[in-house]
Amino acid sequence: MRIGVATEIKPDEYRVALTPAGALELIRRGHDVVVETGAGAGSAYSDESYARVGARIGSVDEVWESSELVLKVKEPIASEYGRLREGLVLFTYLHIAADERLTRALVESGIAAVAYETVETTDRALPLLAPMSEVAGRLASQAGAYFLEKPLGGRGLLLGGVPGVAPGRVVIIGGGIVGYNAAIIALGLGAQVTILERSIDRMRHLEEILSGRVTLLMSSSLQIEASVADADLVIGAVLIPGALAPKLVTRQMIRGMRTGAVLVDVAIDQGGCFETSHATTHSEPVYVVDEVTHYCVANMPGAVPVTSTRALTNATLPYVEAIADYGLRDAVSRDAALAKGVNILDGKVTYEAVAEAHGLDYTPLEDVLPLSAV
Ligand SMILES: NC(=O)c1ccc[n+]([C@@H]2O[C@H](COP(=O)([O-])OP(=O)(O)OC[C@H]3O[C@@H](n4cnc5c(N)ncnc54)[C@H](O)[C@@H]3O)[C@@H](O)[C@H]2O)c1
Repeated sequence: MRIGVATEIKPDEYRVALTPAGALELIRRGHDVVVETGAGAGSAYSDESYARVGARIGSVDEVWESSELVLKVKEPIASEYGRLREGLVLFTYLHIAADERLTRALVESGIAAVAYETVETTDRALPLLAPMSEVAGRLASQAGAYFLEKPLGGRGLLLGGVPGVAPGRVVIIGGGIVGYNAAIIALGLGAQVTILERSIDRMRHLEEILSGRVTLLMSSSLQIEASVADADLVIGAVLIPGALAPKLVTRQMIRGMRTGAVLVDVAIDQGGCFETSHATTHSEPVYVVDEVTHYCVANMPGAVPVTSTRALTNATLPYVEAIADYGLRDAVSRDAALAKGVNILDGKVTYEAVAEAHGLDYTPLEDVLPLSAV
């Protein structure tokens, strides 16, 4: 298959959808890889590093026009809509339930659009979202520790304390992938960590894997209020699949927090779980409300593209290989998880939540493709 790797042109996006190691795997399987000039630069991969493994370096037109499969990280932005066309498979993060214009552009183009974020295994795990949650969780504690420093507007507290001085208190709301990863970094820094969860099974699991080093509490409004009141750093990490994040920390609770405490709302990409949250960017990551610093960057993994690109492509490569080896139609027949990733095919919306979000007709994938073909 002819596979193209496009340069990300969305502001603040430095990841790339394929590493030279991934390109070599595809080339060894007999595929042809063309990488847009400079596509890997933000992730510290030079054009030469791709050329060395046998990939071609090409122009943006070449990547989009000559490929059968285009790999990206973020959704196409308006200036890329004209490049969408029938016969092309696009594999990328799409998040189109929140983007009607792009949904319509994809439908009208006749392209096959496969979204990383809706690839879903039978145990309901999202294998192509998980690596970015791992990165964001780890960054959350790191960013929180940084913004607790006095010159940055924080309380002026060292999370780990020192012998004779108590460590800082970190409260994590939501103990899923983000929450767990935030906890291990906060523990590593020496902080005292509490996780508020509402799934007892998940808390049992966390107790086991964290060897009892965190306090696990059932999440309720009353408990959240009590926990955030004496926290130095609060990390919002809840997810209710397919829904906006619940506003678990109210403005009133924030007024009751310590001066210079820090809130990191990782769930901001789902609307945020603090009443006072609004999305920020890496260039201006924080703002202050009621003397509490808010960090609400919607694309946290973008800050560490060298790590994020590798983590993302480790997870996507097996699916890319399947699409390249078998073609999209046979690949989705063989793998139900990948089939869940197909959002748009042949001008039809094949992912129900997307159709519902925009009042468009929903066509089950098996009505567009004979899924038992293989
Ligand atoms: N800002 C970013 O750059 C970025 C990056 C990655 C993920 N995220 C977001 O982080 C959030 C968490 O992602 P995840 O992968 O950890 O999800 P996850 O499904 O693994 O974990 C979410 C956890 O929240 C818990 N939960 C739900 N309601 C709760 C409540 N009321 N109180 C306490 N816990 C509750 C669930 O039981 C679950 O364990 C999502 O909104 C995700 O989109 C943001």
